[in-house]
Amino acid sequence: MTSPVSDAGAGFSTADFSLDDVRREGLLEPAGTEASPHDGTGRVQLSFTVLDSAGTSTDRSVRVPPGVTVFDSASWNGIAIDSTCGGHGTCHKCRVRVDGDVPVSRHDLRTFTSEQLEEGWRLGCLVQATRDLHVVVPPLTTRPKAATVGVGRQVILRPAVQKRYVELAEPTLTDQRTDLARLLEAVDDLEPVPDLYALRRLPTVLREADLKVTAVVVDESLIDVEAGDTTGVRHAIAFDLGTTTVVATLLDLATGTPVAVASMLNRQQPFGGDVISRISATMLDDRALARLQQAAAETMAALAAQVCEEGGVDPAHVYEVAIAGNATMTALALGIDPEPLGVAPFVMATAQPPVVLAADLGLALHPRARAMFFPALGAYVGGDIVAGMLATGMDRDKRTRLFIDVGTNCEIVLSDGDTTVSTAAPAGPAFEGGAIRCGMRAADGAIEVVRLGGDDPVQLQVIGDVEPRGLCGSGLVDAVSELVRIGLLDSSGRFVSEDRAAELVPDLADRLTRIGDERVFVLHRPHPDSDPADCVVLSQRDVRELQFAKAAISTGWSLLLQELGLETGDLQQVLLAGSFGSYLSPAAAVRIGLVPKLPLLRIVSAGNVAGEGAKMALLSIRERAGAATLLEEVRYVELSDRSDFNDRFVEQLAFGD
Ligand code: FES
Repeated sequence: MTSPVSDAGAGFSTADFSLDDVRREGLLEPAGTEASPHDGTGRVQLSFTVLDSAGTSTDRSVRVPPGVTVFDSASWNGIAIDSTCGGHGTCHKCRVRVDGDVPVSRHDLRTFTSEQLEEGWRLGCLVQATRDLHVVVPPLTTRPKAATVGVGRQVILRPAVQKRYVELAEPTLTDQRTDLARLLEAVDDLEPVPDLYALRRLPTVLREADLKVTAVVVDESLIDVEAGDTTGVRHAIAFDLGTTTVVATLLDLATGTPVAVASMLNRQQPFGGDVISRISATMLDDRALARLQQAAAETMAALAAQVCEEGGVDPAHVYEVAIAGNATMTALALGIDPEPLGVAPFVMATAQPPVVLAADLGLALHPRARAMFFPALGAYVGGDIVAGMLATGMDRDKRTRLFIDVGTNCEIVLSDGDTTVSTAAPAGPAFEGGAIRCGMRAADGAIEVVRLGGDDPVQLQVIGDVEPRGLCGSGLVDAVSELVRIGLLDSSGRFVSEDRAAELVPDLADRLTRIGDERVFVLHRPHPDSDPADCVVLSQRDVRELQFAKAAISTGWSLLLQELGLETGDLQQVLLAGSFGSYLSPAAAVRIGLVPKLPLLRIVSAGNVAGEGAKMALLSIRERAGAATLLEEVRYVELSDRSDFNDRFVEQLAFGD
């Protein structure tokens, strides 16, 4: 099969690129699809109608970069679709009904009748979203033994939370075994050690429930005894504890499926937008650490309450939480002084925080619910990245892959299939809209996609489809990339002269103007005669901010490539991760040099991989153990003390070749 491979620009060849080697999720279409062409820019909206076995339905809409499959888009957003192959096109279980004209793959032909194809039935992992789609997801048909999580990862369900229903023999004068001995003998496959809480409840619950009880075990601890058979009720919450946004996913551990997902801004925001300002806050004020800890606790508690309510789950049936956060967020949530993380030589209190009670983090769940934090590789490659590595299988995949979590602190991991190295690059706040004249977070009114030139010379996509108010990170990258493409920004990142602009793109030349002394490009004018100061603009200084950010990131990955003796052409896949990276336009990211210059199909939006890794750890103790192993397998490369860092950084400042 031949597949169209989009070049992200001139200067590299796709002829020697074998899709079969790298056929995977996201922009790489799985085997059997007729690939839908797309240019890797913009966003598409997927509206899901999710049916359940009771005959009710819920509607959810998500926006994703074009080319992501329906299956991946659903799984990133907590919508469960049947699968046993993890989205690789082999199990033929991921059946969905798509409204509108969608290509039929040869696997679809084998799976559906012609009437079903006519009705829009397709295998969800083979449908690339290249335009807005409405998708109907039928109820799950099987009680799965495995779950699809992360980036196409399939994990066998073996949660740390286990339940056993037992019916115990009545004590008699000839059988005076203790209540505990009686119970432990009945659950001898688990060999748990009882918590005092469970012991206190045991005599009463046993007698009230006629000796028919369910033992609740987390790891090796017997944490509770519940009356009757409650084995079907087992929940856990995965937290992605981000500096900006915190996401909680409530999981049904019996089926491995997400029940509800919610997110909110981290309530630590008033202490500053990035980790350095929060660390500084603790250095300046003795009470700040306690307040930051409290703010993290409140954020997670509010989200836990929200997902339990939305999922109709009693919080007392949530027995475990997993938390993936960077080293600073982890320290603050645990009330550990983060100051050493903020000053050289950047030392953590511990790489592997202990398991604690969720109640000690302020979470009102089962009183003995456990909370596990992901281990960290270094002060700036934290538990969120370890979770991301787990979700993407960075350490197991034999391909040469680069993982970039784009944010204020950008974490980069490179693996050649044998050796894995990681580093962190301080990209600054540009991607969060910070230090940008019209910058804002990705909220209603933020320009997220920019296209320049052509008949309609300025095309903008705005979050919420409202009047543009500013520019979020992906809009910033798009705007700069487009200005480079049409020639209004030269490769050094300087706006060209007015005369040159008039020559190159006469339709847009009047948008290149000034506010005071500073040159700006007007992206949106509220009125035709608005003063530039009242418009949404991209300023010369904004371009410089983005240049520094992208140079920090590209210096990071280029030095990691050098560490492993690799060239950019050796990379078989680049994963863009994190709440910002996943929404970057791959084409724009390539054009400005934020990611290596590669065919677009090798650049994959990986979604919220930290949250996926946290889910994985809750669903599988084997995967959880894998996270700990990563600490020994992955080598951290410190960039700041390298003699070639500055030269490389300066080289990377230019846009394009
Ligand atoms: S064929 Fe298995 S998930 Fe699509």
